Amino acid sequence: MFKLNIKNNNCVVDIGTNKTICVIFTNDKKNNAKILSWGHKKTFGVNKSIVTNFNSFSNTLLKVLTEAKINKLIKNKKIVSNITDKGVYYERNFSYINLDGLKIRKKDIDKIKKKNSQKSYKKNMYLIHSFPLKYKLNENEFLKEPIGINCQRLELESINIYVKNKLISNLANGFKDSNLVISDLIDSAYASSIGCLSDEEKKIGSICIDIGAGTSKISIFINGKPEFIDYIPLGGNDVTNDIANGLEMSNELSEYIKIVQGSIQFSSNEKLKINMPNGTEKIITKNLLNGIIKPRYEEIFELIRERIYSKITENLPIKKVVLTGGASQIEGAINLSEKIFNRKSQLSGPNTKLSYFNKKPEFSTIIGLILSQKNLSQLHWNKSNYGIKRAFKVIDSFDDWITDSFT
Ligand SMILES: Nc1ncnc2c1ncn2[C@@H]1O[C@H](COP(=O)(O)OP(=O)(O)OP(=O)(O)O)[C@@H](O)[C@H]1O
Ligand SMILES: [Mg+2]
Repeated sequence: MFKLNIKNNNCVVDIGTNKTICVIFTNDKKNNAKILSWGHKKTFGVNKSIVTNFNSFSNTLLKVLTEAKINKLIKNKKIVSNITDKGVYYERNFSYINLDGLKIRKKDIDKIKKKNSQKSYKKNMYLIHSFPLKYKLNENEFLKEPIGINCQRLELESINIYVKNKLISNLANGFKDSNLVISDLIDSAYASSIGCLSDEEKKIGSICIDIGAGTSKISIFINGKPEFIDYIPLGGNDVTNDIANGLEMSNELSEYIKIVQGSIQFSSNEKLKINMPNGTEKIITKNLLNGIIKPRYEEIFELIRERIYSKITENLPIKKVVLTGGASQIEGAINLSEKIFNRKSQLSGPNTKLSYFNKKPEFSTIIGLILSQKNLSQLHWNKSNYGIKRAFKVIDSFDDWITDSFT
């Protein structure tokens, strides 16, 4: 029987435009994440993945955290949250250290990682990730840490990811009423890809697209490492709004019709009867519904293609597109993706034994947040000093998985 040691429990929160989820988990003896409890509620006070109304968002959080029994299970009041910045900025950084022919030690690797994250600065932005991409020594390139090899000069190339300071203070404000401290922030696009891409997909080169309610998140992995992160300020709610405007219906009804009857693939003259709240009936054809939904999805995919154009035309090894997030479940999304990106596409969700989350695309971010906590080699983030000191956080590898949960 698994013994609960409350001190080792961790809490992660996915703040989405439509839903907020909190998961409390612990690591068992084999270092597998074990989910202990969760809370899941509709989000209020967030628009396009950004906190816009602190009171409403605080209330949502309190409800979610209470449902997850945070007071019973989390002692240190620390949580890890995703962050979505449509203006996310990333850059490649290079550093080197001289080793005068000595063998490379773990200490040297830590030193060069730190150097690469500390020399990096972007005004009004905060460095949230520094991912080591490759090491260079003796004219050879290494994807893994080249410990034990003698060398004169060790070089490291990293990708550093920044979000706006302002967004961090917004988030921290939202958490104030819960008396919780954000101990770590994970980029949403990165978290989603960690939640749904397999190691093989990261290795062969894949584009991960999380189409959520408010935003679409894009990440590209090549050789197992993150290569690109970006956002499009459009998601499933824009599709729902188009239906509501086009058919003069409430958002609730439009959401229902979209999920039950929506498609971007097949259209026909088949008639759909919609019971309106005022007791009347509205008859529309599937063609009409399809004609409203499809252009918006095409716009989303076309905008994404524009953002990643250089990556997909540069002859880079990118073999696949993986769609995730709630709105990627629309019928026909895979075909549209294959047409637009000219690559094999598939719909994916996280792989966990817990049926509540398993294979459900809307839960890629929350499961990615859990997985991202396993490989942090160093992290310094302090609510009081963001914007002044830069974070030093390095994520090495992502090959752990949730193998056991909820007994
Ligand atoms: N079967 C379906 N077909 C089409 N759209 C769907 C389906 N199921 C859910 N959606 C849409 O998915 C969206 C919700 O997705 P998700 O839960 O990933 O968003 P979120 O995480 O709250 O938002 P975000 O990440 O953008 O801040 C809604 O717009 C919803 O209408
Ligand atoms: Mg989301």
